[in-house]
Amino acid sequence: MLRFGPTFFTYLLRQRFGPQRLRRQPEMDMVMLDEEQDREFALDGEFGALAVVYEMVIYAVLRAGPHSGKALDIASGSGQLLSKLALSLPEMRFTGTDLSDHMLHVARASARTYGASNVEFIKQDMFALETLAPQQFDLITWSLAMHHCQRQRDVIRVLEGAHRLLKPGGTFFLWDIIRPKTGPTAVAFADMYNRGRGSWFYQDSLDSYKAAFTFQELDSLLAQSPFAGARHIQPTLGNFFQIVCASQSWGSQRPFRSFLKTPTQRLDYWMLRLGFAREW
Ligand SMILES: C[S@@+](CC[C@H](N)C(=O)[O-])C[C@H]1O[C@@H](n2cnc3c(N)ncnc32)[C@H](O)[C@@H]1O
Repeated sequence: MLRFGPTFFTYLLRQRFGPQRLRRQPEMDMVMLDEEQDREFALDGEFGALAVVYEMVIYAVLRAGPHSGKALDIASGSGQLLSKLALSLPEMRFTGTDLSDHMLHVARASARTYGASNVEFIKQDMFALETLAPQQFDLITWSLAMHHCQRQRDVIRVLEGAHRLLKPGGTFFLWDIIRPKTGPTAVAFADMYNRGRGSWFYQDSLDSYKAAFTFQELDSLLAQSPFAGARHIQPTLGNFFQIVCASQSWGSQRPFRSFLKTPTQRLDYWMLRLGFAREW
């Protein structure tokens, strides 16, 4: 069994200390369009590793973000994360965005299923954020979508757009996967975290790992953006998930209701929390 066995541990060590050999391979499909895709994605957002990442994100936002006001989520996808965040922060009004009409439809259905009434979804290209009125949001989140950028300058474009929309002193969160150091490591991560949710989801996860930015690449992009100096962290071990947080205040942790469903998810969540414990 691969799960946290010696083989996987070797991959974690290689990922932490090995040289970066895997080059970035931008994804062909940027926008999610089809029903099978969103069904497999949504399944993982409920019962799989994606739900674990969402849980970590909710923990982080409740820790460092504002608890009321207006929030914007860039490229909301299935809307599961945003619905869970909206339930966790009932005094905040959330606007989720996506370029895909299909994903907007899925996201609205998600919000209804979760019973999140403080969230709405609108069609919006993340590369055209200048079409929205400036300085209107207390919180902006950009989750697991940076790896959809074809070029490095596209990342800076979104960062500039998001910065313009934030109120002065507002909080910005970005999180995404980190590109594995080698092809076999990418496969090991996909086997570990993304198997069993359907063939499209498995392949999409693998493609996403390969399209992701390394920690150093994002560090250098941040330095060229209005978010230079923001807190940028990765887990001590594991090294496959990175968080950027630009926040003026370090709020107190609010207790939140867990959305995790299985003991395996809870174990993975605490491993992830442990990975960030030194800095978070
Ligand atoms: C992997 S999903 C991430 C969804 C969600 N943020 C999450 O954390 O689960 C990426 C989403 O980005 C959307 N997307 C891709 N290109 C976009 C663009 N230019 N503008 C807005 N959304 C875009 C896709 O349609 C898809 O729904």
